[in-house]
Amino acid sequence: MKERFLHHELILILDFGSQYTQLIARRVREQGVYCEIHPFHLSAEEIAAKNPKGVILSGGPSSVTDEDAPRVKQDFYDKVMAPILGICYGMQMIAIDLGGRNEPAARREYGHAKLKVLSGGTKLFNELPFELDVWMSHGDHVTQVPDGFRKTATTGDVITAFENDERGIYCVQFHPEVSHTPLGKEVLRNFLFKVCECSGDWTPASFIKDEIEAIRNVVGETDNVVCGLSGGVDSTVAATLVHEAIGDRQTCIFVNNGLLRANEFEDTLLMYKENLHLNVRGVDASEDFYTVLKGVVDPELKRKAIGGKFIDIFDAEATKIGGVKWLVQGTLYPDVIESVSLRGTSVTIKSHHNVGGLPEKMNLKLIEPLRELFKDEVRAIGRDLGVPEKMIERHPFPGPGLGVRILGDITPEKVELLQKADKIFIEELQSSGLYKDVWQAFAVLLPIQSVGVMGDFRTYEKTVALRAVTSTDGMTADWARLPHDFLARVSSRITSEVRGVNRVVYDISSKPPSTIEWE
Ligand code: XMP
Repeated sequence: MKERFLHHELILILDFGSQYTQLIARRVREQGVYCEIHPFHLSAEEIAAKNPKGVILSGGPSSVTDEDAPRVKQDFYDKVMAPILGICYGMQMIAIDLGGRNEPAARREYGHAKLKVLSGGTKLFNELPFELDVWMSHGDHVTQVPDGFRKTATTGDVITAFENDERGIYCVQFHPEVSHTPLGKEVLRNFLFKVCECSGDWTPASFIKDEIEAIRNVVGETDNVVCGLSGGVDSTVAATLVHEAIGDRQTCIFVNNGLLRANEFEDTLLMYKENLHLNVRGVDASEDFYTVLKGVVDPELKRKAIGGKFIDIFDAEATKIGGVKWLVQGTLYPDVIESVSLRGTSVTIKSHHNVGGLPEKMNLKLIEPLRELFKDEVRAIGRDLGVPEKMIERHPFPGPGLGVRILGDITPEKVELLQKADKIFIEELQSSGLYKDVWQAFAVLLPIQSVGVMGDFRTYEKTVALRAVTSTDGMTADWARLPHDFLARVSSRITSEVRGVNRVVYDISSKPPSTIEWE
């Protein structure tokens, strides 16, 4: 399944560890140009083999003067024939490598700056105003450009852009990829279309067409394929795409682990069959999951128990189909980018690999039709494929489901109670138009009881916490500032409609230091 976009224009992004590298990729793709992120040490031969229309060198946290600073390979500038754009750290490295000078600034420049484009004309700032608001984040700055290069923009007395048009090397100190550089998109656009002469041929429709062809080629005429559906947007879009390619030779399996939202299993199964015409089997294994979860309290053990049981059920169901050689997975691009870790390896905070080990256990080859895509691109593809909007706009939902939203041990009664409270919260978010404003929202059942009063009676019942966050990728998040009147309505509905709950609290913690889920 590799190299399937070779007939598309490609921009290569070499990653030097910037927090913005994925943002550069998204900005490039928004212009209809396919791009890939690779580690900074990709060799000139590997770059040439990909035949890129242009190469972008990202920013990064290092200083080029550090002894162990990440650098491109020595022969990079001689062997790479495509135009190059260096951003921030990328610019400083180019300056040093080609004989210019770079020095630590007296103070780190971070934030807004005004850039002045110098006279003399440059493709990068073509048709842009002579003054631009830009976003800076750097400790070093270039004090002398290499021989043969000329300055094209400054902020005060700092060199903010320089280039050698003949060699096709362009450098900017600011970050064109961030929204704080309002015309940054135009700068990138100029690089893509004026410098690299891209045509912008990468669209959802062209992606779907290529992908269908690629799936047909790789699966062949007779192999059978199996796909696990979770009810989320990624697996749904992946399955729909594969269905377009090979029809009912793909069998989808949708397992009810007893930890889904209220009516989720029935409603989603119907949608898979009626709207998307998928060849899908629904397996209600709730009881099996409750059995293995009995008495399990530790969050990681719950995850392991749920993941392990899922593999068993899925494997048993897939075995019934026969002749299955392939497994479809909705893996996305952020999961496959080889991330550059310049600060040591990161620690696993929670194990998110719910079904890791499935392909090995079942001895299946993988089809991952979305592995080059970001989430918003998956949504665009899904829309083109006719996936209902309600599914496309869905909040993320964790594999272990309500299992990590019931603190303490799990019982069917607790699941039912949480489903009712959660349903009220989601219904109210939808009917008040707030659902789209939050990134994820859900209810959590706490393992405590507290005193309340109902009519003439004292109660001693359970507490439900409501969690709603804003985020762009789930890595960081803030609690959503939902209107007080809205929260009051949800709270009053839950305490009056869900028997066994006498208290509702709203979680006002951001991530970090908290996480989005409570377990
Ligand atoms: P946390 O709680 O780590 O969650 O801030 C970040 C995002 O990941 C989801 N999440 C999971 N997804 N399996 C999943 O498939 C898991 O075990 C899991 N734990 C958390 C969470 O819902 C949020 O979107």
